[in-house]
Amino acid sequence: MIQQIDKETVREAVQMAYERCKNETGGKNADYIPYLANVPSNLFGIAACLPDGEVIAVGDTEYRFGIESVSKVPTAILAMNQYSGEEVLQKIGADATGLPFNSIMAILLEKDHPSTPLVNAGAIAACSMIRPAGDADAKWKAIVGFISELAGGEVEVIDELYKSETATNFNNKSIAWLLKNYGRIYDDPDLSLDIYTRQCSIGITARQLATVGATIAGGGVNPVTHRPVFKPELAPKITAMMATVGFYEHTGDWLFLTGLPAKTGVGGGILGVVPGVMGLAAFAPPLDEAGNSVKAQKALSYVAGHLNLNLFNTTRCVMRACEPAQV
Ligand code: DON
Repeated sequence: MIQQIDKETVREAVQMAYERCKNETGGKNADYIPYLANVPSNLFGIAACLPDGEVIAVGDTEYRFGIESVSKVPTAILAMNQYSGEEVLQKIGADATGLPFNSIMAILLEKDHPSTPLVNAGAIAACSMIRPAGDADAKWKAIVGFISELAGGEVEVIDELYKSETATNFNNKSIAWLLKNYGRIYDDPDLSLDIYTRQCSIGITARQLATVGATIAGGGVNPVTHRPVFKPELAPKITAMMATVGFYEHTGDWLFLTGLPAKTGVGGGILGVVPGVMGLAAFAPPLDEAGNSVKAQKALSYVAGHLNLNLFNTTRCVMRACEPAQV
């Protein structure tokens, strides 16, 4: 039987996760992008956004960190919203690679197929799909505007991070041009790569990220602004993509342990989605060797376990007396 939880229980779980994980010292900041290496390692925040738009937040949840690979989620939704889920499936795919996020081998093994918009190859391909083709400014406005709508507040690029990423994205340049070689990029490769680099450099707070999660969990309606942001039928599609590849080569382990569809970024953020229930976010810069925040994984794993949010559990919890936002 499905259990019901109330706000107080969520508040306690978020606070307890914070207390239990705050002294965790494992992992280290991403250092292949100089800006990220210099972000204070002790920052830590957890947020949960509920169906009525209330955000329960503990710790450094107002700090603007680099969204990085979590940005692959909004752009995948935008591509599906502009075209359709089926067209994104056909042009990019939705398969897990089981390999690191920036794998060139994955492109070769899949025989020209970018696999999923949630790894670098598929994300660059998704950026190439965003309309209008050929117009970098208009494409960028579409992406940054869409992320702001999902987050319930303006987001913008952290200039220093963008410069730092652009100066070091040699592997991603190879990916963009390899996709061109295979006919799997749908706009100019350099333009598409620049859009991808810019979107990774967006600054976002854990509070905003939890709202992104709640918008997906609520079928495309932002519970804070009450605005419909994307077509409801895309919510289960993006959640399925997050569940299959959100932690790259560690995704199976994560899903086995938590049952929580989630997506990580090397900025230290993790976005979690509990369909119909809530959006979750945690942020702490030190990462494991796959590029996933050590502390944020522990925190979200604790919250999901404590609140019984495992998607595959027949007794999983739903929110009590907390109606979804009406359009
Ligand atoms: O493409 C890159 O290298 C980065 N800008 C984003 C990578 C990332 O966040 C991978 N996630 N864990």
